[in-house]
Amino acid sequence: MTITIKSAADIAAMREACRLASEVLDYITPHIQPGITTLEIDRLGAECMAQQGTVSATIGYQPPGYPPYPGHLCTSVNHVVCHGIPNDKPLKKGDIVNVDVTVITQDGWFGDNSRMFLIGDCSVAAKRLSKLTFESMWLGIQQVKPGARLGDIGHAIQQFAEGHGLSVVREFCGHGIGQKFHEEPQVLHYGRPGTGELLQPGMVFTIEPMLNLGKRDIKELGKDGWTIITKDRSLSAQWEHTVLVTDTGYEVMTLSAGSPALPSFVQATRT
Ligand code: MF3
Ligand code: CO
Ligand code: CO
Repeated sequence: MTITIKSAADIAAMREACRLASEVLDYITPHIQPGITTLEIDRLGAECMAQQGTVSATIGYQPPGYPPYPGHLCTSVNHVVCHGIPNDKPLKKGDIVNVDVTVITQDGWFGDNSRMFLIGDCSVAAKRLSKLTFESMWLGIQQVKPGARLGDIGHAIQQFAEGHGLSVVREFCGHGIGQKFHEEPQVLHYGRPGTGELLQPGMVFTIEPMLNLGKRDIKELGKDGWTIITKDRSLSAQWEHTVLVTDTGYEVMTLSAGSPALPSFVQATRT
C-alpha cells in the first residue's frame, strides 16, 4: 500500500532502464512503414533488446486472470486501445499504431514507454487524435512537482481531451514503476484537482493517456484475453513516458535520441 521512493542510486538505474526502453522505439521507428506486420515489429524489438542485454517485461507477463502475454511489446492498431498482440497482418497506409515497450535491465529495473506511429498518409482526424493525445500526456507531465497531487495530472489530461471532443479511457491507467512492472500508485488520466496522493521527490510513475475519437467505452476483443478495443470501433491513441518527481518538478526518464520533439508549450524535459 505504499509508493516506493527511489534513492539516488535507484534513480540512476531507472534512467538507464528508461533510456533503453526509448531506444527500442528508436530502433524500430525506421521500419514502421506500410507493409510491415506487427509481428515483424515485435521481432525487431526483441532483436534490439537482445543487443542491449535487456529483456522484455511483457513476454510471459501474466497478471491474475490473464493468459501469459505472448509479445515482446504491444502493438495497438486503429480502434485497439491497448495490449494489442503482434500478428501477421501487414500495416497499411492510413493505419495508426501504438507500440508500447517495457524492458527489464540486467539489474532488474523496468522502463516503460510508448509512441504512436502514423502509417503513410493518415486522415486529418487520425493525425489530430495522435497529436492531441501526445499533448495531453505532456500537459499531465507538466503538473508533476512535489506538493502537487495525482488528481492534478488526471484533471489536466481530462480537461484538455474532453475540451477537444475526445474521450478518456477510464479502465487503464499509469502506474508506479521500478523493480516491478506495475507498482503503486495508479495514475488515473481523469480526476479532480487537489485530490489524490501527494507527489514527493523520488516517486517514479508512468503517464500514459488513452484517448478515443468516439465514446470512452471499451471492451475486450475476447479471443485472446488481452486485446482491448473501443466499443464503438472509433480510433484510439496512446503515448507513454516514465516520469520522476524531482525536488523542483519532473524529469522525463524515457528519452533518447529519437524521442519526438516536445510540444511548443513545453520548455524542458527536466524541471
Ligand atoms: N506496457 C503496458 C503499460 O504501459 C503494459 C503492457 S502489459 C502486456 O503498462 F502484457 F500487455 F504487455
Ligand atoms: Co505503463
Ligand atoms: Co507501457
